[in-house]
Amino acid sequence: MFRTSYNLLLGAAAAALTANVSWPALAAPPADWSQVPTKTVKLFYPGQSSFQWLRSSEHPGAVMLKTGGACMTCHKGTEEKLGNTLVSGEKLEPNPIKGKNGVVDLKVQVAHDGKNIHWRFQWKTNMNRAGQMHNYMMYDGAKWKMLGGPRSKSKVRSGAEPPLYEDRMTIMLDDGRVPNFKEQGCWLTCHNGMRDMPNLATKDQVRGHPRLGKGGLKKSDVRKYLPDSRTDEEASWDKVKSADEVAMLKADGKFVDLMQWRGHRSNPVGMADDGYVLEYRLFDKGKKPFSWNVDRKTMTPKFMFDANRVGAKSITMADIGDPSKPYAIIKEENAVPYDPNAGWKKGDVLPGRLLTRTGTEGSAGDNKNAKGVWKDGVWTVTWSRPLDTGHSADDKNLKVNGVYNVSFAVHDDNVTTRFHFVSFPMTLGIGANADLEAVKVN
Ligand code: HEC
Repeated sequence: MFRTSYNLLLGAAAAALTANVSWPALAAPPADWSQVPTKTVKLFYPGQSSFQWLRSSEHPGAVMLKTGGACMTCHKGTEEKLGNTLVSGEKLEPNPIKGKNGVVDLKVQVAHDGKNIHWRFQWKTNMNRAGQMHNYMMYDGAKWKMLGGPRSKSKVRSGAEPPLYEDRMTIMLDDGRVPNFKEQGCWLTCHNGMRDMPNLATKDQVRGHPRLGKGGLKKSDVRKYLPDSRTDEEASWDKVKSADEVAMLKADGKFVDLMQWRGHRSNPVGMADDGYVLEYRLFDKGKKPFSWNVDRKTMTPKFMFDANRVGAKSITMADIGDPSKPYAIIKEENAVPYDPNAGWKKGDVLPGRLLTRTGTEGSAGDNKNAKGVWKDGVWTVTWSRPLDTGHSADDKNLKVNGVYNVSFAVHDDNVTTRFHFVSFPMTLGIGANADLEAVKVN
């Protein structure tokens, strides 16, 4: 009974693809990926190599970067050395994670059919299970508490809490309108002051900031941003341009499209999220596939598993990593409202995130066809998106014969923020000559 129900859950994304006839026709990935050339892209561990460090006297490339130079002029073939040096803590990494690898080989295949772009990504994971648990809550006999977190968290480092954080695969995309993205890629977005970076901006500083804090974006930390959104040459986190100036940059397409396939927060509904980077890392307009499953007033879950469909109202720590057990709450598939009187026992676990596919809307729901399968230590993610999403206000739309700039990142083995692997920027041609050429398929 349990297994049958779970098979239903596993098939949920596929079922949703066919069940919801109201959606426009979805992109079909190539039936035979072996026909599409594979390129291996070396991703490496970047530590705290921020925009500001790269332009400091400590980096031999500083002068060239300030005048728009490219990383690849000097760093061709150095990924392995950079990643292994930085992950060890020898340089630019004050807090290394034990046992972490310095590089990841990302296999990339890319195709287009005139209407859609189709990606397939494959990489080996450091962990012997799928990284698909995230923001779990555990009942302690009296109340619900958040459980575990990324490996960088001190309580996880000390062993007091388990490592629990989703794996991710990120695409950054530029159409040539973001100055220096082609040359310097994601390092334009990575700054001192951000979470887990040097000179961290405090919560109070951010909350009190007129543009980022209470009176503006309502944030309490600093995330990715582009130097163009700042008024000073250092691109300091707090020197944000006025809302009008930022709106003009956005209208000019001077933002980077940033999409993340997430092992917990999007994969169970067969999606990736859709965001962009300008004055902050923001989500596109509309409704994204994930929200909180936590009532902030009572600190209790909003939904629990539907026992009729998945066999139990909750899971336990021992179930984590067991492929026969559910791991994500999907509103339209396996959830019922949380019942505080359901007889909760110490050690009961529920996801603190609520997923939906049918509830996504607008530009934030553009990536409706991204599915990852973890098998024998390898993630295989197939991901299709319309070349033109119809949402040019916050997406980079692609044309056949066009050439674009891309960079990739993988968050592997329970990590967040800087503890990821990244690529140097590359060019992407839609049926055109480039570092990565999307070949035509039918
Ligand atoms: C003008 C040449 C040049 C350019 C352009 C350049 N670098 Fe460097 N970079 C160097 C040299 C030389 C080193 C020192 C390497 C060493 O000691 O092995 C270095 C060191 C680094 C390091 C520290 C690792 C170490 O072993 O010292 C990182 C990280 C780095 N560069 C990243 C970048 C990135 C990212 C870009 C583009 C945004 C870039 N560099 C552009 C020349 C350059």
